[in-house]
Amino acid sequence: MTSAENAAEIPAPYSVGASAPAAQAQQATSRPRRIRTHHLQQAKAEGRRFAMLTAYDQYSARIFDEAGIEVLLIGDSAANNVLGHATTLPITLNEMILFSRAVSTAVQHALVVADLPFGSYEVSPEQAVQSSVRLLKEGLVHAVKMEGGAEYAETVRALVKAGIPVMAHIGFTPQSEHALGGYRVQGRGDASQRIIADAVALADAGAFCILMEMVPAQAAADVDAAVPVPTIGIGAGPSTTGQVLVWQDMAGLRGGNPARFVKQYADLRCVLSDAARTYADEVRAGSFPGPEHSF
Ligand code: KIV
Repeated sequence: MTSAENAAEIPAPYSVGASAPAAQAQQATSRPRRIRTHHLQQAKAEGRRFAMLTAYDQYSARIFDEAGIEVLLIGDSAANNVLGHATTLPITLNEMILFSRAVSTAVQHALVVADLPFGSYEVSPEQAVQSSVRLLKEGLVHAVKMEGGAEYAETVRALVKAGIPVMAHIGFTPQSEHALGGYRVQGRGDASQRIIADAVALADAGAFCILMEMVPAQAAADVDAAVPVPTIGIGAGPSTTGQVLVWQDMAGLRGGNPARFVKQYADLRCVLSDAARTYADEVRAGSFPGPEHSF
């Protein structure tokens, strides 16, 4: 990239409110206008970390974008977290396109990546290209994520040839949960060699990033050292270039026991529940709407 092109990537400041802390404003002004795959590559080269969150709708996507999250993922986890399915398998390509479009149109800065859902890419590289073209053309995303190891290297090559950036997803791959025997850590002991071989094959094929789910921290560190591209972890320890969490887990919207790798940064379930109860109490008491809410 020329220095002129590089300068064009440096943004006018975000619209950060007057009360925003100085550190936040500083981060906002130094961020590229649009995060590209080469910015993630640069992060790895410079030893910097980046953050990724899932998003499925316009409000959460905009909030995360304004908060400086570098990568937003329309995960097929929308199947569980939005549509209420027990697994990620039932979500369709059309549904993924709908969620993708809502996120993509709301976001100005983040790199937007969408999952290829189960059944939309396994048959052939051609099928993967056709499905991905729809995600980019109709869902307006910038890249796709695909579950699977070295056996999908040919598919990654076909996507890259078509001009579609691919994030590979290895380790525990939720679309294969029935084949893998449930939610289990992958790559323990000698099996870590397989994870490393998968990562190397996918990076060789042109994947711009390797995401690892539920693999031992040491195996993830070995993968990060073995591939030239950035890595992202979820339940993969601290050595990957980036980290990702499902936003409803990160913000404490989902009830029940979170997975070991989840850290809750808020208690949105409690906040929303309190708001709904207070609203209902005020309606029942006749104190809402007040004169200020009436015409
Ligand atoms: O669909 C999803 O949310 C994912 C993350 C767990 C990485 O693939």
